[in-house]
Amino acid sequence: MKRVLKLIRLIPVVLLFIVNQVNAQQGGMWIPSLLEGMNETEMKSLGSQLSAKDIYDINNSSLKDAIGHFNGGCTSEMISPKGLILTNHHCGFGQIQSHSSIEKDYLKNGFWAMSLDDELPNEDLYVDFIVRIEDVTSAVLDNVEETMTEEEKQIEISKNIKSVEEAAKKEEWQKTKVKAFYKGNQYYLFIIDRFEDVRLVGAPPTSIGKFGSDTDNWMFPRHTGDFSVFRIYADANNRPAKYSKDNVPYQPKHFLPVSLDGVSEGDFTLVFGFPGRTDEYLPAVAIEHITQEYNPSNITIREAALKVIDAQMKIDDAVRIKYASKQARIANAWKKWIGENLGIEKTNAIENRKAFETTFTKAMKEKGLEEKYGHILPQFNTLYKDFAEINIKRRNFLEVFVVTNELMKMTYRSYQLENKIKENPEEFEKHIAWIKGQLNGVHKNYDVNVDKAVFKSVMPYYTKDVDASIYKKTAFTDLKSALSLFNGNAKQVLKKLNNDAAYAYAKPMINNYYKEVNVGYQDKKMHIDALQKEYMHALMDVLPQARYFPDANGTLRITYGQVKGYSPRDGVYYNPVCYLEGVMEKYIPGDYEFDVPQKLQDLYNNKDYGQYADTNGKVPVCFLGTNHTTGGNSGSPTIDAYGNLIGLNFDRVWEGTMSDMNYDPEICRNIMVDLRYVLFIIDKYAGATHLIDEMKLVHPKKK
Ligand code: ARG
Ligand code: GLU
Repeated sequence: MKRVLKLIRLIPVVLLFIVNQVNAQQGGMWIPSLLEGMNETEMKSLGSQLSAKDIYDINNSSLKDAIGHFNGGCTSEMISPKGLILTNHHCGFGQIQSHSSIEKDYLKNGFWAMSLDDELPNEDLYVDFIVRIEDVTSAVLDNVEETMTEEEKQIEISKNIKSVEEAAKKEEWQKTKVKAFYKGNQYYLFIIDRFEDVRLVGAPPTSIGKFGSDTDNWMFPRHTGDFSVFRIYADANNRPAKYSKDNVPYQPKHFLPVSLDGVSEGDFTLVFGFPGRTDEYLPAVAIEHITQEYNPSNITIREAALKVIDAQMKIDDAVRIKYASKQARIANAWKKWIGENLGIEKTNAIENRKAFETTFTKAMKEKGLEEKYGHILPQFNTLYKDFAEINIKRRNFLEVFVVTNELMKMTYRSYQLENKIKENPEEFEKHIAWIKGQLNGVHKNYDVNVDKAVFKSVMPYYTKDVDASIYKKTAFTDLKSALSLFNGNAKQVLKKLNNDAAYAYAKPMINNYYKEVNVGYQDKKMHIDALQKEYMHALMDVLPQARYFPDANGTLRITYGQVKGYSPRDGVYYNPVCYLEGVMEKYIPGDYEFDVPQKLQDLYNNKDYGQYADTNGKVPVCFLGTNHTTGGNSGSPTIDAYGNLIGLNFDRVWEGTMSDMNYDPEICRNIMVDLRYVLFIIDKYAGATHLIDEMKLVHPKKK
């Protein structure tokens, strides 16, 4: 273990995988506290003027102090000394929606608080900042012996993590969290400031913030102003605090100045954020399983659901509004998986990974390590063969019972309720409040005819027993009768519930999922994970010169690159920057995806661009980079060579979404909104000039 740790720290500048012998810039999501050496050198070679300490420092303020984990799923950044933060429109979507009504349709019309008093508080919204990162590997792996079973190891590790989190030195308001890196070969502790008074300040209309919607999602050229603005409030001591009207705008340790000079091809780009999950060190057999079995089965189910939902949304306006967010969620991953498969195929990723495994095996033998690691790859083959069926079955269950069909989702939640009541009867009232919250959530945007059609189309992917007649007999399809199932004492509730036709139909399947499918899945997954941990260790031991970054795990990372176009197909090349002209080219009056607000058209027609046009006289909208990003990097700042904000990350190109398993510098690109478009919309479109005045606008290229 010690040796591997040392290797990780001393990785020289070489290649990601030896087979991938290109001297182009490589991918990687790096831990900000470990940039000295290889990363710093590589960043400089790409044009950066930043030192490792400019990015992460615990004694002085640094860029990391401006980066906030937005509600656990997205990223945001400080852009003013008075607590202003920026994130994506799709990251703030839930908050914007929750303040919206027919009378105040902020989704449709946008929202702008013209003074602090107008800013809107949000329940349950929080932003985390990382105060410090510490390597706690030896404490976490203390007493974890090779002779233990996998279960015993996991129990010991969890125990150790708990004591590390509890013993960490921290201020009383701070939180701590230990996370596994390199598949559990390393552990880091994070000390966190969590701010819970975060108010909505501004959002463009959907026709700007989600322009192009699903048609343009995961695509370039892209013309979406995918941003929203919030403000963090703190207590009188500038510390995190729950919402209070007495709180004041937070004064951050650092905020990002905004560059007005924009980007050109080849410019250095640093994306700083909280990527959620990647799997870069999978064996070929795993990529085969994912792209040839797992993705296709998920794509098929979602396609079946989307076919019904899309058709209904087109003919019925009420359905269109109700299903907007649900449909976007289903379609987002559906389209991503298709792109992921395309990219894997186009780049021969599976063949390449197999060739890499041959290289690995040869080096392993040359180093006399066959006895130690020779079992790993063959064992992956056996384990994945055994895992494939249950993995798909489990996922199919989730797709049907949680993602697509809402009657099944309500029965699934009711099953959980039944368990809660049995396990914890003294908290009955709390459980009832919970299930009622779930039902209200579903019925807020429910259409029984759409749901029934979805049921008929997706259910056959899970069972032969498709009985749509339950829709006529169940109480769940109507909110009032659904809620009344849960009135009464525990005995009465459980009796009513078990007599409900839909519940009676679904319960045996849910039961089977919990007792067999999920249990079998967890057991097989645990062994795959344990082998993946061994493989990670073996890779670093056998091929120590390769460059290894830990897979994304929702922790703070940097990924660096350059502004760059790409060629998705023969004869096609995408320029790295696109402009407001493209918004007008795509404009379809009244269309739900491509309408353009009149005010924006006027600004365009009058070329009323203020200080936000490029040297060519055009307003840039989005640009492409070679940064290695994933879900969770939404809202991440794109920072220039000097530490200024130039863009807001929000997506990747279609063929490049395979970067979660196989980053390829040829076609993997992230998509960012140009910050000048953000400022242009805030200033010229919304007239919220007081926000611009709070920021620090700079001209780094005009020095
Ligand atoms: N594809 C981006 C992401 O994965 C953007 C999603 C929001 N936009 C949409 N059209 N659904 O989150
Ligand atoms: N839109 C994604 C998100 O919400 C980021 C795009 C990606 O997966 O790269 O995190």
